[in-house]
Amino acid sequence: MSTSTVSVNDAVVAAPAQTCDADLAEHPSIFDLVPGYGPGASEGDVMPDPVVRPGQLPAAYQRMSDDELHARIRAAKETLGSRLVILGHFYQRDEVVQYADFVGDSFQLANAALTRPEAETIVFCGVHFMAETADILARPEQRVILPNLAAGCSMADMADEDSVETAWEQLMAAYADEHLTDADGREIASVVPVTYMNSSAALKAFCGRHGGIVCTSSNAATVLEWAFERGQRVLFFPDQHLGRNTAKAMGIPLEQMPMVNARKPGLGLSSEELAQARVLLWPGFCSVHKRFTVAQIDKARADHPGCKVIVHPESPMPVVDAADAAGSTDAIKKFVAASSPGDVIAIGTEINMVNRLAAQYPDRTIFCLDPVICPCSTMYRIHPGYLAWTLDGLVEGEVRNEIVVDDATAADAKVALERMLAALPKDA
Ligand code: 13P
Ligand code: SF4
Repeated sequence: MSTSTVSVNDAVVAAPAQTCDADLAEHPSIFDLVPGYGPGASEGDVMPDPVVRPGQLPAAYQRMSDDELHARIRAAKETLGSRLVILGHFYQRDEVVQYADFVGDSFQLANAALTRPEAETIVFCGVHFMAETADILARPEQRVILPNLAAGCSMADMADEDSVETAWEQLMAAYADEHLTDADGREIASVVPVTYMNSSAALKAFCGRHGGIVCTSSNAATVLEWAFERGQRVLFFPDQHLGRNTAKAMGIPLEQMPMVNARKPGLGLSSEELAQARVLLWPGFCSVHKRFTVAQIDKARADHPGCKVIVHPESPMPVVDAADAAGSTDAIKKFVAASSPGDVIAIGTEINMVNRLAAQYPDRTIFCLDPVICPCSTMYRIHPGYLAWTLDGLVEGEVRNEIVVDDATAADAKVALERMLAALPKDA
C-alpha cells in the first residue's frame, strides 16, 4: 500500500493517505493497457473477452499539462455549445465533474439525457453500461461517447448473456408445471427477470423480451413490487447484495432468496429451495462496496459517538443492517443535505463522492467508512486527458469512442428501460 499523496481529489484528501494500490498515482492511460480492471477496488477481477477495451489516449494527450487539458476542454465546450451535453456520475473525479451539465446517480442520468434532445452528442463521464443506456434512450440522431472505452464495471461483467440464458432455461424447466394466477384470476409468470442497471445492453434486452425490467439502486424497491405484481418470483442479476437488501426490506425471508449457480445442474439448488424461492439471486457483487464491514461501522461509532452511518445498498447485508440508513448515491446526497452543522456522518460508498460531500459541507465531519482510499477503478479511468481528446475530436469533426448498441438489442432493452423509468424511486 502506498502512503504517498494520490491524484484522487488532491484538494480534499489530506496526505499522507493510504491507497489500495500505489498505481493509482499513475495516469489512467498506463493501466488501460494492462488486461483486467486495473489498480484499485476491482483489482483481482478478471475482465472477460470481448469486454477488454484497451485505452487509446494518444501520447500527446498523455504528456499535456493539466492546465492545457483544462483549457482544451473549456474551449471545446464553448465551441460546441448546446450541441453537446456532458453527463457525470457522482463517482467521477472532481476534475471531470466540474464540466458536467448534469451530475447524478444512474437513474437520474438515464433521465437527464432525455431532457436535452437538441444535443447532437452526449458525452457520458461514467462507465460503459451507463453510456449504452444513454444510447438506447437517446434519439436516433444523437450519439453517445464514453471518453475512455476501458471504463467498464466489474460487477456488470459478472453476468454474461450466455450464463443468464442458461439459468433461465433451467428455471423455465423447473417451473414448467406451474400455472399461476393472481387474486383476480389473471395469469402470472413463474419468474420475472430483473436486471440491475449495472449490466450489459444484452441483458437489458433479455429482460425486455421476457416480461422483465431494469432497476437502479434508487428504484429497486418499486421495481420489485412491479415484478411481484406480475410474477411469483424474481431472478435478480447481477448484484446479489442489492437484490438481497431490497427483498429483505420488503419482508422476504433469507431462506426464500437462494443464490443460483448457472454452472451447476439445477442451478445448484434443491427442489425444495427452488419451490420456496421468491428472489433468485445472481452471485455478482461490487468490488468497491464489498470492502465495507460492520467492524468499520463499530469503529466509526466508537470514535464518534452519535455519528450517523449511511451506506450504498451494494454493500453486504450485515453492513446495511448495521447502518442507520442505506440508499443510492442520490439518497446519500440527500441524507447529507438533510443533516445539521456539527453532525458526523460516516459514508459507505465510493471515495470521490464522499470527498465531494465532505468539501461541500465543511461544517460537518464527513468521512468514508473505509480508511483506505480505494476509488472505483473503472470510473477513475475517465481522466481529463480522455475528455479533452474526445471533445477535441468533436470540434475537428471526428467522433471518438462512440458507444453504439445494435438496433435489435436496443429495441428490446428499451422496453425494460422504459418500465424502469416509470418505476419511480420511493423518495422521488
Ligand atoms: P447509483 O445507481 O447509486 O448511481 O450507483 C451506480 C453504481 O455503479 C454504484 O456502484
Ligand atoms: Fe461497478 Fe462498483 Fe464501480 Fe459501481 S462502483 S461502477 S458497481 S465497480
